[in-house]
Amino acid sequence: MGEPQRSENAEAAKSEAAKSEAAKPHAAEARASAEVKASDGAEAPDRAPAATAKGTKPPLHVGMVGYAFMGAAHSQGWRTVGRVFDLPLRPVLAAICGRDETAVRAAADRHGWATAETDWRALIARDDIDLVDICTPGDSHAEIALAALAAGKHVLCEKPLANTVAEAEAMASAAEVASGRGQLAMVGFNYRRVPATALARRMVAEGRLGALRHVRVTYLQDWLVDPDFPLTWRLRREQAGSGALGDLGAHIVDLAQHLAGEPLAGVSALTETFVRHRPLPGGPTSGLSAVTADNAGQVTVDDAALFTARFPSGALASFEATRYATGRKNALRIELNGERGSLAFDLERLNELSYHDRTEPGSYAGFRRILVTEPDHPYLDAWWPPGHGLGYEHTFVHQARDLVRAIAEGTRPVPSFADGLQVQRVLAAVEESAGKNSVYTPIAN
Ligand SMILES: NC(=O)c1ccc[n+]([C@@H]2O[C@H](COP(=O)([O-])OP(=O)(O)OC[C@H]3O[C@@H](n4cnc5c(N)ncnc54)[C@H](O)[C@@H]3O)[C@@H](O)[C@H]2O)c1
Repeated sequence: MGEPQRSENAEAAKSEAAKSEAAKPHAAEARASAEVKASDGAEAPDRAPAATAKGTKPPLHVGMVGYAFMGAAHSQGWRTVGRVFDLPLRPVLAAICGRDETAVRAAADRHGWATAETDWRALIARDDIDLVDICTPGDSHAEIALAALAAGKHVLCEKPLANTVAEAEAMASAAEVASGRGQLAMVGFNYRRVPATALARRMVAEGRLGALRHVRVTYLQDWLVDPDFPLTWRLRREQAGSGALGDLGAHIVDLAQHLAGEPLAGVSALTETFVRHRPLPGGPTSGLSAVTADNAGQVTVDDAALFTARFPSGALASFEATRYATGRKNALRIELNGERGSLAFDLERLNELSYHDRTEPGSYAGFRRILVTEPDHPYLDAWWPPGHGLGYEHTFVHQARDLVRAIAEGTRPVPSFADGLQVQRVLAAVEESAGKNSVYTPIAN
């Protein structure tokens, strides 16, 4: 409040950016280079200047809905991004929203938000909110995002974009219309923003792998192995849309398609629910943790989803998403094999990328470990000296960086709501195929 409104913000940001560009030699070349590299997060140096004085940049007021697992992760992103990256706008943690007044006020204090709301409609109605960040379960994504876009806000929405294709279609259409008014919408597939996966994308785009033959992806967790783990919202279809498929599968479908550079054409799938009844939660739940009560309820989502898939180029892909991989905590692994080389990434060793260059002499060739901490690796020019690695939370800082830049520059951020809709169509095809005992099911792209 008392600060410039959104349209003025964009203008002021452009004028700030123009001033600093004019001061730089070879600004046009730098801009051209940044445009070419924009898709992998590698751009001209963007470390925040030492004296980023509060108030010298136009503010971008963020209002976030949901304050538990992703609420904490996104808060970390918004709090940190302007202190690390040199952004044209200054993100302001203006308001956090939940339904329980005491809990949301405590979350506001803990995570650094200026004010708290107990109804997301009230948050969206506020004139001082520029961007609505949705960190709630999937059953509320569509309603909140559509209302926020209708109210003139930019939107960041956690994955999966929605619980159904129909909801995702409505969101993608609304985002398309809103983009004509300068409002931007992005979905939170944060694993694109690990420096090593962004580097992998760059290397595939450079042709280092040649024609792709295989994309092999697994996302393994084990928090449901205990049959007494309670029936939280993630195990209820009406709230989560699907189980391991929409939660973990959405991430790996997006990452596989992003790295391969093309959407999937069709799938053959199996899904299974291993434990069909679980105790009800005995109190508040957060992220993957909860306590149990005595009564039991029915699990209405998949526990695991396995599927094979074709890319239009002819490459084959395999996917496995499960919450029953005993001993595996957050094991997202992806390997790409091409005619000229291979790449492999493991989220549990996220500062590394394995690369095999088949054009090297056979006597010396082999998988080499690239330590992805160099300043010319994506996102890393603003962080620590080489060898001082990053972690999970940094993906949310990078997500905030890319979105703030897109808003200031008026370019469409990726992954867009249209990208989120396309992932939703893959998830729907997986469920359809699994329902028909793995019949190959084309994806309507
Ligand atoms: N990108 C990732 O790595 C990642 C990881 C985990 C979860 N997610 C996604 O983030 C979203 C949230 O998951 P989470 O793990 O943070 O869940 P969570 O259970 O930890 O938190 C959900 C929050 O939403 C709030 N909430 C629920 N309904 C609400 C409503 N109608 N109005 C206001 N607040 C409401 C709850 O009070 C809670 O604060 C989901 O879409 C999930 O798939 C993404």
